[in-house]
Amino acid sequence: MLEKTYIMVKPDGVKRGLVGEIIRRIEAKGYKIVDLRLMRPNRELVEKHYDVHKDKPFFGELVDFISDSEVVGMVVEGEDVITVLRNMIGDKNPAIAASGTIRGDYANSLTKNIIHGSDSAETAEREISIWF
Ligand code: CDP
Ligand code: MG
Repeated sequence: MLEKTYIMVKPDGVKRGLVGEIIRRIEAKGYKIVDLRLMRPNRELVEKHYDVHKDKPFFGELVDFISDSEVVGMVVEGEDVITVLRNMIGDKNPAIAASGTIRGDYANSLTKNIIHGSDSAETAEREISIWF
């Protein structure tokens, strides 16, 4: 199915110069970037984005990490792009993320894990409307 997803290079990915590598992987897979923006989101926006995790113990640390820092948000379009990019991103736990995935190759922290990708069609629609 032709879908759109929200992808975000998190502050650690931007600081480490991984924006180009992430875009390269997305384009090499054959997906199209249909919107892209460098932003410094305020706390309110980040809290809204991660609303599903607001009662989790890591919420404060996560919002601190993303807020008022440069991130690169993008909308990516293609066949089954939501699931395929989630697979290319890899597990959030660096001890589990497989080599060859973005997190498996570049992340060594559970919180600072380089990249976000929407996990369902509903989430993608919600996240795109929040960020764009
Ligand atoms: O990002 P993903 O959908 O793979 O994972 P999540 O379970 O929805 O968690 C969202 C984000 O919260 C993760 O990507 C991590 O940055 C952060 N997190 C954390 O800091 N500590 C945890 N125990 C779980 C998640
Ligand atoms: Mg998630």
